[in-house]
Amino acid sequence: MFLGLDIGTSEVKALLLNDAHKIIGTAGVALDVSRPQPGYSEQQPIDWWLAAQAALSQLRDSYRQAYDQVRAIGLSGQMHGAVLLDASGRVLRPAMLWNDTRASVECIEMMTEMPSLARVAGSLAMPGFTAPKLRWLAQQEPELFSRIAKVMCPKDFVALQLTGDCATDMSDASGTMWLDVAKRDWSDAALALTGLSSQHMPRLLEGSQSRGHLSAVAVDLLALPASVLVAAGAGDNAASAVGIGAVQPGQGFLSLGTSGVLFVVTPSYRPNPDSATHAFCHALSGRWHQMSVMLSAASCLQWATRLLGAASVGQLEALAASLGENQRAAAPIFLPYLSGERTPHNNATVRGSFHGLSHDTGPAELAYAVFEGVSFGLCDGLAALQSAGNEIKRLSLVGGGARSAFWAQHLASSMSISIVTHGGAEAGGALGAARLGWLALGASEQDVCITPSVTQVFTPDASEQALLAPRFQRFKALYHP
Ligand code: XUL
Repeated sequence: MFLGLDIGTSEVKALLLNDAHKIIGTAGVALDVSRPQPGYSEQQPIDWWLAAQAALSQLRDSYRQAYDQVRAIGLSGQMHGAVLLDASGRVLRPAMLWNDTRASVECIEMMTEMPSLARVAGSLAMPGFTAPKLRWLAQQEPELFSRIAKVMCPKDFVALQLTGDCATDMSDASGTMWLDVAKRDWSDAALALTGLSSQHMPRLLEGSQSRGHLSAVAVDLLALPASVLVAAGAGDNAASAVGIGAVQPGQGFLSLGTSGVLFVVTPSYRPNPDSATHAFCHALSGRWHQMSVMLSAASCLQWATRLLGAASVGQLEALAASLGENQRAAAPIFLPYLSGERTPHNNATVRGSFHGLSHDTGPAELAYAVFEGVSFGLCDGLAALQSAGNEIKRLSLVGGGARSAFWAQHLASSMSISIVTHGGAEAGGALGAARLGWLALGASEQDVCITPSVTQVFTPDASEQALLAPRFQRFKALYHP
């Protein structure tokens, strides 16, 4: 039995997987994001650990027999967050998250001081990444900065509670901007841009390597056997790739979580920073990936659900799906940039908007516009990946958004590709994390990284495409940097 733990932005999810690839059970504990100022996005690291403990105790209550048989744990987590520890391991401040956009000036400074940075680190410097945040802190909170002994990513902080050891994996390390992504090692030059050295960094592992065993404290707290091994795990996108079996060059997926990600595996390091995509290490050795990231995907749906007073995202979807073709054609256009955008705009200050409101605009039109605006943002991401030479004809859907057939069809038509859904794919990073735990015990990639069975294939619908084409042109024309 293997346990996957995904430290997400909106929830911590735990999942039990057996060696017949069956998901025995899942548990989730919701998390809040604090936004103390516009563009800020923070969480307390201790809340991840408390939520992880609560999720594990739910799993234990519901699936006691399976829980007692756990042999390995793997981790997955939101990328780029800055967890700052002092020399005695105490957390110095709330973690600034992947969608925190306060450090944009620092990005420009870093790229000016080190013109090769984007090529070394696999992406233009973007405010959500860890390194620009540390440069911001050095200037804005210098006393606190001087006490930093270690900087960790979110899932690695939870792993530290599990094992007592300070390590990370290559995929998450890539998201810091301190990794020489081609060499799979820390870059002293990139670290120097933020006044840090490799002493401040956790040790580097591949995602399927072991961090070691549970600490005595964790054994007591979680009621798991001391023999349980903890795998390095991966950033949530690379972990989702492992979960959906996207481990060979050319394979890819589309993740609809708080963020929206298109991910393609590459056989070598292929940076294409001008397209505002990221080229990072995969969770498995000897492989890399390219991805486009939109900052607000399912989070736009949650926002619209609250705005319209709908009971759930499901109800929002029902509203959107209730519109006929003429009503869709007349609906407003929505720009989904609620917290700025990465691919393709790399613009921290742009914000979302509705265009074309009229007296006829009602909740259903707004709901439809929000789904469509997120689909269009993902079309931009697809074009950015295609500009890097990737031929993409078919993508698997993972993450919470994978539950919606309406959206899957809309995406297939908007993006002109086939969208495939799989059993268990909404488990996303948690499933990949459990698989990385399984691999850390010595199982083979062929046995572990299979693609879950296909549940449905959505292909572009010609009449929906005819309706969407002019609307996409309007969407593109409305973006003004
Ligand atoms: C990837 C990214 C997001 C987070 C969200 O670069 O910022 O996908 O990992 O969990």
